[in-house]
Amino acid sequence: MKKGAVIAIDGPSGVGKTTVSKRVATRLGYRYVDTGAMYRSLALAASDAGVDINSDAALRDYCARVDISYNAAGNMLLDGVDYSGRIRTEEAASLASITSAKKPVRDFLVACQRRLGDEGDVVMEGRDIGTVVFPDADVKIVLDAPHGVRAERRQKEFEEKSLAASDVGKKIAERDRRDIERKNSPLKAAADAVVIDTGSLDIDGVVNRILSGIKNRFHIGEA
Ligand code: DC
Repeated sequence: MKKGAVIAIDGPSGVGKTTVSKRVATRLGYRYVDTGAMYRSLALAASDAGVDINSDAALRDYCARVDISYNAAGNMLLDGVDYSGRIRTEEAASLASITSAKKPVRDFLVACQRRLGDEGDVVMEGRDIGTVVFPDADVKIVLDAPHGVRAERRQKEFEEKSLAASDVGKKIAERDRRDIERKNSPLKAAADAVVIDTGSLDIDGVVNRILSGIKNRFHIGEA
């Protein structure tokens, strides 16, 4: 098996990125890194610490002093605290949507992500992995699906986790707009990415399509 490959999986929310990325990582025996979870954790940690999340200067200051580590499950800890129990809430989503548009936060987390991916054998999911974090990634996938399909999926996810949610479709549209229109690393497909519509394929169909593309082009085998 080729060693050291980086697989970038990008796309908007509700597109099935997490499920697909985890399965691709498991099938290849690669590490899985959820960069959205990092943006969400940092947003919660900064907000809990009383940082003004609308201020670039306050966020830059916070990023310079916060201690980052990772636990055995691969969760990012900020000053030793694991925020993973709260990252799927609406609160985390709306805080992260604001802080992820801020340059100091992006610079800081992109550097963390590069350190995590540098050794390769990693599947990293996010919005800018194939464009900014690893522009030389061996494989670049962009997952997409119509807005209605994504909103329905997110609503189901909230219900399954018994989390409160309202106006899911409207909020997804709002966050999409921020992700696409932001000045710093907007969500866009890399020119050399393979775009897959997850609206018309089930999870296994998407995973198999990604794996067969990887095997054919890069001679990377399954674990
Ligand atoms: O994928 P997600 O919904 O967990 O992402 C949470 C937020 O972080 C969302 O507002 C988009 C942002 N994000 C980003 O800007 N860049 C990434 N690489 C990953 C997530």
